[in-house]
Amino acid sequence: MQLRPLARAAAVSAALATATLAIAADSNSTVPTKRPTDQETGQTVWAQSCSSCHGPKGLGDGPLAAALGGVKTLKGAITPATLDAMTGVVRNGKDKMPAYSETIDAGDTRRILEWIRDISDGRIQPKIAKPKDESGIKKPDPEAAREVAAEAADQE
Ligand code: HEC
Repeated sequence: MQLRPLARAAAVSAALATATLAIAADSNSTVPTKRPTDQETGQTVWAQSCSSCHGPKGLGDGPLAAALGGVKTLKGAITPATLDAMTGVVRNGKDKMPAYSETIDAGDTRRILEWIRDISDGRIQPKIAKPKDESGIKKPDPEAAREVAAEAADQE
């Protein structure tokens, strides 16, 4: 019966090792923890769908602009008076401007237009995308997890 406390210690160590592994698995999860802000959505959708022609800040300097014979700057183009017309151009297209009503919903259309309005006139700056490593979650150390498991096994 002298072994009993040791056996209990081994059980506790094993439970800790399991918990460590569970945390390790969890921190690899890519499920977002919060909804993106309107600004973040604007920046993401702009970068994906619009900047190739209009440029990163809507100044008409995207890599495809030259092939289109030049694209006007959007700086100053989006005002309360023009917002409806601008929304119509994005939804339905116009000349070389593709239509996006099938791929970008009305809410995101408003978010991109507000974002590019504020970016193009310098009112806001693009947010640098946060690298995954800076999530604040301590990276699991597989070596440490193995050590804990080995210790638990030793105590049996
Ligand atoms: C294939 C290139 C291309 C892509 C991609 C593109 N555009 Fe355009 N866009 C144009 C061209 C060309 C025009 C015509 C006017 C010009 O020369 O700027 C235009 C016009 C516009 C206008 C009207 C500007 C004005 O002053 O009348 C808005 C607003 C606009 N685009 C927003 C967007 C948004 C938002 C996206 C992404 C969802 C987007 N565009 C994607 C090429 C593009």
